[in-house]
Amino acid sequence: MNQHRAAPRRRADIAGREDLALLLRRFYTAAFADPRIGPFFTQIAGTDLDVHLPRITDFWEHALFRTADYRGSALAPHAALHSVRPMAAEDFGRWVQLWRATVDGLHEGPFAERAKAQGERVALTLHRRLARAEAPLTGRPGPGFVPLAALELRSASVL
Ligand code: HEM
Repeated sequence: MNQHRAAPRRRADIAGREDLALLLRRFYTAAFADPRIGPFFTQIAGTDLDVHLPRITDFWEHALFRTADYRGSALAPHAALHSVRPMAAEDFGRWVQLWRATVDGLHEGPFAERAKAQGERVALTLHRRLARAEAPLTGRPGPGFVPLAALELRSASVL
């Protein structure tokens, strides 16, 4: 029996901006190449990764460590995308799957867990808010039940 078997190597936790920059470059490289969600970046938004990365690094540095000043809006760019091509639950599911896999591939620890949980939470919130915003336009309720009377009231109030 091998008594010198090495202990399983632990990955380090996300420690700060440098780690985030590396993690996010890896994540967005995978997201851009992904057949399901890649086209939102490459074809619809025409995202320049060199512009997007510093901003999204600020977003995460603020979210995890409160050390960066991020004052952007996560909802607005996604609402714009959604109006060109609807972002489905499966798209957000794919985002979360890639995010979890990328974080797990590089890190483990409390900040890594927080990053995964927060990504999932934002994905869920974005999906809910986009689906809800679209309900009065299409007449289709989003994931929550919207009574027809409420839709009629809402449309009456804008006349
Ligand atoms: C299917 C899912 C998603 C797609 C396709 C997507 C795509 C995009 C695109 C194309 C932009 C605009 C980038 C540009 O300026 O060109 C953007 C912005 C942004 N995304 Fe997402 N996104 C998704 C989900 C998420 C999630 C779950 C988060 C949560 C962390 C997130 C965080 C952000 C933030 C914070 C910005 C704004 C960055 C800024 O201030 O410029 N996105 N996203």
